Amino acid sequence: MNKIVSNTFFPHGHLLGIEGLLAGEISSLLDLSESHVEQNRQANKKRPLLQGRTVINLFFESSTRTRTSFELACKRLGADVINMSVSTSAIKKGETLLDTAMTLNAMHPDVLVVRHPHSGAVKLLSEKVACSVINAGDGSHEHPTQALLDALTIRRRKKRLQGLRVAICGDVLHSRVARSNIHLLNTMGANVCVVAPVTLLPIDIERLGVEIFHDMAQGLKGCDIVMMLRLQRERMNGNFIPSLREYFRFFGLDAEKLASAKPDALIMHPGPMNRGVEIDSEVADDIARSVIHEQVEMGVAVRMACLETVIQAAETKGKAAP
Ligand code: NCD
Repeated sequence: MNKIVSNTFFPHGHLLGIEGLLAGEISSLLDLSESHVEQNRQANKKRPLLQGRTVINLFFESSTRTRTSFELACKRLGADVINMSVSTSAIKKGETLLDTAMTLNAMHPDVLVVRHPHSGAVKLLSEKVACSVINAGDGSHEHPTQALLDALTIRRRKKRLQGLRVAICGDVLHSRVARSNIHLLNTMGANVCVVAPVTLLPIDIERLGVEIFHDMAQGLKGCDIVMMLRLQRERMNGNFIPSLREYFRFFGLDAEKLASAKPDALIMHPGPMNRGVEIDSEVADDIARSVIHEQVEMGVAVRMACLETVIQAAETKGKAAP
């Protein structure tokens, strides 16, 4: 199958966030991602569905897995891909975000994959360019492909999302991963709770439809999924925790705290992990429970599906729609 299949399930020109996506759209993206998983395990991983298309990865923040994952996804689908990071871009010379975007736009890419430290910057950029835009993380706002890869990992292991109890633990305040996951899991009928110190929760978090806990043993009780978040110190202005040692003692996931979750609960982390801060090595490396490497694997399949989907949606419409 070397042709993009007709795609009427995704009426959006861009993938800027999970908020606002319908359950059917999410399911279809996951189904399409699933179709790439086996191919990615073969010796020949190439499926040139996007031959001739150009993708630019525009990263204004450091990234290992997300950028590599998008690059691999492009290459496996046969697209031409260029990586631009802020350290090598004209932004360093004082160019504005929008001027950089318009310059790249003039080269007729089909997709810009953008990561930016400011919430809302990716949407702003999407309003100015002619091509499709995929949000690879904007500030503490959204990281849609991470939530999709998390969902694919969970769905493959648990065979469903609906009715699962998911605990999202740690630095929710600064986490775009948490926000995208909350939107996705709620839309798909899972029950989401957040477990964090008061200082690391947004004040209006309950409006997103989550239960709140400040104690790991209580929050993890009966959970199917324990999703840990990195303490995002680069986003913190001031001191949000008394000390790393105390944070680990009360909120770091270790075998003792994990015992409150279901015996078959899965451990997840978007990476990069800070061992001994939010997670203990014993549980992070527990091959029976931890699916952290599987999340990375699913990331490539999900990004292939997202690229294919936005490109096809744009080609079906003749041009990218808002
Ligand atoms: C996350 C991110 O950048 O938002 N990482 C990732 O994309 N895998 C989470 C994090 O940085 O902690």
